[in-house]
Amino acid sequence: MLDAPFQIRPARDHDRRPLAVLFAAVAEERDGIATEPPVDVEARAASWTLDGTLVAVAGAEIIASLHIERSRFGFGEIGMAVAREWRGRGVGSALLAAAIEWARERGLHKLSLSVFPHNAAAIALYRKFGFVEEGRRIKHYRRASGELWDTLDMGLLL
Ligand SMILES: CC(C)(COP(=O)(O)OP(=O)(O)OC[C@H]1O[C@@H](n2cnc3c(N)ncnc32)[C@H](O)[C@@H]1OP(=O)(O)O)[C@@H](O)C(=O)NCCC(=O)NCCS
Repeated sequence: MLDAPFQIRPARDHDRRPLAVLFAAVAEERDGIATEPPVDVEARAASWTLDGTLVAVAGAEIIASLHIERSRFGFGEIGMAVAREWRGRGVGSALLAAAIEWARERGLHKLSLSVFPHNAAAIALYRKFGFVEEGRRIKHYRRASGELWDTLDMGLLL
């Protein structure tokens, strides 16, 4: 099952709950994404912005998602997560490639994102696609633990 192929497609309405469940599971890790538990899954499902969301599916299961929040100013801001058991198998790369295509088709001139400096897998993924570091925000996120985490800003001109 874990070696089954996966497909990338735009998110649909019935993906809302699995998207929120995946998001909540990644938040539980308290490591890669800014959100920490508790996540209100039903509220998150209801409010998920489907426009600009791409999903990776294996069989009937949603194994990853990427959202591009399109600004009025020509850039899009990316957030993404791959289910833990699917990491390191090219899912993130396939999603990011599709996101870049999605953004180009819509005439965006740039993609940007923020990433925690310890997130080596994410930084390697973004660099692989040509994203460059544009700056560092110092002690930007207060975590539930009380720690203050920096973020790196990265961008890709399309
Ligand atoms: C970051 C994340 C999206 C990467 O997705 P993924 O499916 O594991 O990525 P891929 O398998 O496509 O790997 C992409 C590249 O990252 C690098 N990479 C992957 N895992 C790595 C690791 N553990 N350490 C260092 N580099 C790693 C590799 O260079 C790989 O490129 P390759 O094709 O040359 O091998 C995934 O780890 C994740 O969802 N993490 C938790 C949530 C998160 O951190 N989201 C991003 C917030 S900014």
